[in-house]
This record gives sequence, structure tokens and C-alpha cells, in this order.
Amino acid sequence: MAAGIDDIAIYIPRLYIDAADFAKARGLDPVKLQKGLGVSQMAIVDANQDPAILAANACLKIMQKNKLSPEDIGRLYVSTESSFDESKAMNSFVIGMLEQVYGQGAFEHCGGVETKFACVSGSYALYDNTNWIRAGEAEGKHALVVVSDIAKYDMGSSGEMTQGAGAMVMLLNDKPRLLAFDPRVTSTSIKDEYDFYRPFGKETPIVHGQYSNMLYMIQVRKALEAYKKKVISSKLINIEPGETILDHMDYINMHLPYSNMGKKALAYLVRHEWRQLPRWKKILQEIGIEEPIPKDPRGTIESVLGDEEFMAKDHEFTKLFTKTPEYQEVYESKLASSLIASSMIGNLYTASLYLGFRSSLEFEYQKGIKLEGKRVGFGSYGSGSSAMVFSGVIQPEYEEIVKNMNLEAEIGDRRKLTWEEYEELHENKLSPEDSMLHSKKEFILVDVNKETESKGERRYIYNE
Ligand code: COA
Repeated sequence: MAAGIDDIAIYIPRLYIDAADFAKARGLDPVKLQKGLGVSQMAIVDANQDPAILAANACLKIMQKNKLSPEDIGRLYVSTESSFDESKAMNSFVIGMLEQVYGQGAFEHCGGVETKFACVSGSYALYDNTNWIRAGEAEGKHALVVVSDIAKYDMGSSGEMTQGAGAMVMLLNDKPRLLAFDPRVTSTSIKDEYDFYRPFGKETPIVHGQYSNMLYMIQVRKALEAYKKKVISSKLINIEPGETILDHMDYINMHLPYSNMGKKALAYLVRHEWRQLPRWKKILQEIGIEEPIPKDPRGTIESVLGDEEFMAKDHEFTKLFTKTPEYQEVYESKLASSLIASSMIGNLYTASLYLGFRSSLEFEYQKGIKLEGKRVGFGSYGSGSSAMVFSGVIQPEYEEIVKNMNLEAEIGDRRKLTWEEYEELHENKLSPEDSMLHSKKEFILVDVNKETESKGERRYIYNE
């Protein structure tokens, strides 16, 4: 049975901080953000918004767009790493909000949980719900998988340059108009790590950025190795001698904590794959220098990062490699379009990979490319750490959905924050009633109870 993504909707907060303003305030070279990281704007939540609201607003959009009633929905999962309750699942808050519009008890029949594994949990949720459909449990109903996050880092930390916020919802069913997932090839890797984590009670994460970047690439590579084996054993794809699995993916979407991380990760994977192939000889000639090897090739990530000579040479080698026409062709045709939305919005944690997918559909379609039958590969990563590699094929009805995609229109009128406003929001100095925008036809947070008996209870309304 086919199963996959039928439609998608996003909700992005309309407030943003501009990269140039950010760089000026922090005494950084703006080129580092814009060219070095690929960050132009970072979406910031208003004082009356939280990750459940972002998720609920995205769900309402997709239901209204597809004229779905709650009866049509069998499961509602929310994947997030911005959770504000240790026990009550975020999807229960979302259902509470949706029932303000659809009526009390309208989603009573629906199941679902909140899933957590840093940025990869949305991929696990998608996989589980796809299998719920494949197993014949859905009885004609759809699943909603929402990925919603507020990527907020400490003031003055290096992670502060890679913030953002937003939610994306994916409607899954057995007749997907957008993308059918390839069966029996989804592959994972997992390892106990402390690259990025957020201990209880802390609003912002503890991040070892460079370590995390390297771990991300290693874990995705391991998941890709497992994926290759499954692709061969399931006979999904025939990899001829001299070819790599990446040659069989028309598009590659990577997890994007910031836009340029996609470039970095793709270059790493392609290098790893091509190194085994006859074509590598020609590439090395074009690069003109030898591929560097760390002093301790079997060492730890720390020892590699600490090997300054190797890191400098590797940086130079990667730069030259990414300039070769062969790599440029792969980059432009398979990845570049997926990075555009990330530059405009910033880091969405769980939603980053899927915003990239959404971006790739819109901007590839605008190039006039026929997308039907194209295979999309996904490289998902969550700190802590786990990676997942899977794929799907764009369906004949895709145009029905993609022709109407317009990122700017979907975000709506944006408002640039001044530095003072940004600081006030970041330091949680404002109450919900002090919100900067007064958006209509959206859910908003009214208050969070502070009394001992009902501490943490959140009151939301749908703002007509
Ligand atoms: N002009 C142009 N480019 C510049 C530049 C300048 N003036 N200064 C730096 N750059 C480039 C660097 O060369 C680097 O590019 P490269 O990746 O191709 O080498 C890039 O900008 C970033 O600079 P770097 O010095 O590596 O940045 P940093 O160490 O200050 O921090 C992160 C970058 C991404 C590590 C940091 O922002 C972070 O930790 N973010 C959080 C990410 C996260 O949460 N990850 C975990 C989940 S996956």
C-alpha cells in the first residue's frame, strides 16, 4: 500500500531579526552570517506565542485548505524539542485549541503523542505514522504529523546566530498527492552523545557547535550506509558499478540548523561516496591538492577537531572540492533550492528538514522542472544523537499542491524587530498582552497560570 505526504502547511511567526542588524549589534562581520552561514533573517516568536500555538496554527491551515473535518483525522503527532511540560503532551494542547474551532470533543477519537529526539523526532513520527497507514490501521483516515520548534540560544553565544521559529504540518494518507515513501529502506543510526542538549528547566540548549556539526555528518553517513544495504537487498534501486546511491536521488534534503550546513553535509557525503569510485581520480586532479588525513585517522571527533593542521587543510580541500564542476552540478540540481527558505526563516529544529523539502518543491517547480517520479532522499539528524535516511517519490498529482506554493505569501507580512525589541522578547520581559502583533484568525496565548494548584496551565484563544 502507498503511504506518504499528501499536503503540507507551514506557520512561521511574522516577527524577525535581520542578519545585518544582528551582526552589527554583536560586533560580527555581516558576511559571516550571510555568506558563511547562509542566514539572512531569523523568525522570532511574539510574546503571545509558544510552540503549541505554531503547531495549532499550521494544523488549522491544512485542515481548512483541504476542507477536512476532525472525523477525517485519525492521528495527530507533534514532534518538538521546545516542550514546556514534562508530562502533558504538546498534541493535547493543540487538540484543545483546534476544538475551540471545531467543537468540544471533536477530536476525541484521535490518537497521538509528542515525540522527542532533538531535530530527528519528526522523522521518526513520520515513519511511525506511515507504517500505521501501511498496516491498514487508518481505516481511510489521515494522520497529521506536526514539527514545531522555537530555536532559541543564549544571548551572546555562537548559537545565537542560528535561531528561528516555526511549525510545519504534514498530512499523511494512502493516496498521497505529493510524495510516497519508499518502503523497507528507512535506515537509522544512534549513539549516546552530548553535542547539544537542554537539561530540565533550562530554556536554551547547551551546544558544542563544531562537535555537533561533525557528529551530524558522521551519523548521517552511517545511516546512509545502512540505507544503501537496504536499497540493494529490497531491490528498490540497481546501483551499477561506478555509481553511487546519491546518483539515484534526484533531490537531497538535509537537516538545516542553518542554511549552509546543508552544503557542508552534502559535500561530506558526496566526498565519502565518490572517494570509492573511478571518477575520484579526475576530481583529485581538478582539486590539485591531496586529500588530507588527520594525524590520528582512528581518533575521536575531539582529536580530529583539535588537529588544527588537518582542519585547515581539510577546509581548503573542501572549498576546492565544492568548486569542481562535478560537485557544483550535484549541488545546484539536488540541494540548492532546499536552502532558500532556511535563509529567510532560520533554524526550525525538527521542522528544518521539512521546510527544506517544501522549499525545494516550490523553487524547483518555479524553474519549470517536471517533478513527477523524482526520487527525494532525506538526511535527518537529531543531537544526542540519531540520524535517519529515507526516501520517497514525487507523485503524479504533485502539481495540484506545488503550483500554489508561495513562501512569502504563506508567511504573510513580516515585521523587522529593532534590537531593543529583540532583546525584550529574548529575555521574556513581555507578557502575552504586550504582544507586538495583533494577528487575527490565529490562536494566541492569553496567560500561563502561576498559582501553585494550577501552575503552568495555559489558556489559549482563537483570535477572531
Ligand atoms: N566572512 C565569510 N565567511 C565567514 C566569516 C566572514 N567574515 N567568518 C566566518 N565565516 C565562515 C566560516 O569559514 C564558516 O564556514 P565553513 O563552515 O564553510 O567553514 C562559517 O562562516 C561559520 O563560521 P565558524 O567560525 O565556523 O562559526 P562559529 O564557530 O562561530 O559558529 C556554529 C557556527 C554553527 C557552530 C554555531 O553558530 C552553532 O553552534 N550553532 C548552533 C547549531 C546547532 O544547534 N547545532 C546542533 C543541532 S544540528
